[in-house]
Amino acid sequence: MSQTEKWRQYKVIEEFPTRELLSDSTLLKGEEDFDLKDIVIGKSVNIAPTVSYVLNGKKTVIGNNVTIGAGTVMFGGCVLNDNVFVGHNAVLREGTKLRKHVIFGSLSVSEGDCIIEEHTLVHSQCHITKYTYIGPYCFIAPFTVFSNDKEMMYRRRGHGENLEGVILGKGVRVGVSCIFLPGVEVGDYAVIGAGSLVTKDVPPGRLWYGHPAEDQGSASEEEVKVCNC
Ligand SMILES: CC(C)(COP(=O)(O)OP(=O)(O)OC[C@H]1O[C@@H](n2cnc3c(N)ncnc32)[C@H](O)[C@@H]1OP(=O)(O)O)[C@@H](O)C(=O)NCCC(=O)NCCS
Repeated sequence: MSQTEKWRQYKVIEEFPTRELLSDSTLLKGEEDFDLKDIVIGKSVNIAPTVSYVLNGKKTVIGNNVTIGAGTVMFGGCVLNDNVFVGHNAVLREGTKLRKHVIFGSLSVSEGDCIIEEHTLVHSQCHITKYTYIGPYCFIAPFTVFSNDKEMMYRRRGHGENLEGVILGKGVRVGVSCIFLPGVEVGDYAVIGAGSLVTKDVPPGRLWYGHPAEDQGSASEEEVKVCNC
């Protein structure tokens, strides 16, 4: 029995109720209507045999035409919308929400409680920390890291109380190996050059790069057109 068939034993639905479930940020809103068990899985889903699913009592929804690559570890409590593609050896922790047509690259890690909006590409080996929000049609190049804990409080009193996720607007493009400090907001269609350390909010439509990143002018019109969104 294939991994997908095994997962289907939990529950198969004919039509994935995308709009109802995902129209706001509440995980599994309306779940009572669908009699969910642990996993709801759509049609044409391809889950590689070596994908691990961590049972934690939380419910997971997988839409139609989703692929999950070999070696990926997925926790209960994720929502993968229609046409999502997850690469090999990725980690998706609880509360990860990948909207339609998102690509989540190999070896990338989601710490959970984060949203990646539709048609966004998160390339390989990225770290998406808790409370990150990435808007639609974004391009995140490999080795990009988002942070959320300014005070680095793990195992100290107050840990988790002041976490601030990074927010990226629509159509943002991020070059390879960028670092975003906690709570930074990047406006729509901004471009962040390769190797940048983003310490401040970036206004919409601007090109920033450097270490720390600074304003280098406007993002080209071409960039916005290519985005096609
Ligand atoms: C930011 C970027 C878009 C700028 O491109 P550009 O406008 O064509 O810039 P240029 O190549 O003309 O360089 C202009 C100057 O900025 C510098 N520069 C360009 N990108 C830089 C960056 N990311 N960090 C620091 N300096 C940079 C150049 O060295 C050059 O300096 P100089 O005037 O002293 O010679 C581009 O450099 C970049 O980082 N692209 C992302 C590539 C990437 O990661 N792709 C992902 C593929 S998976």
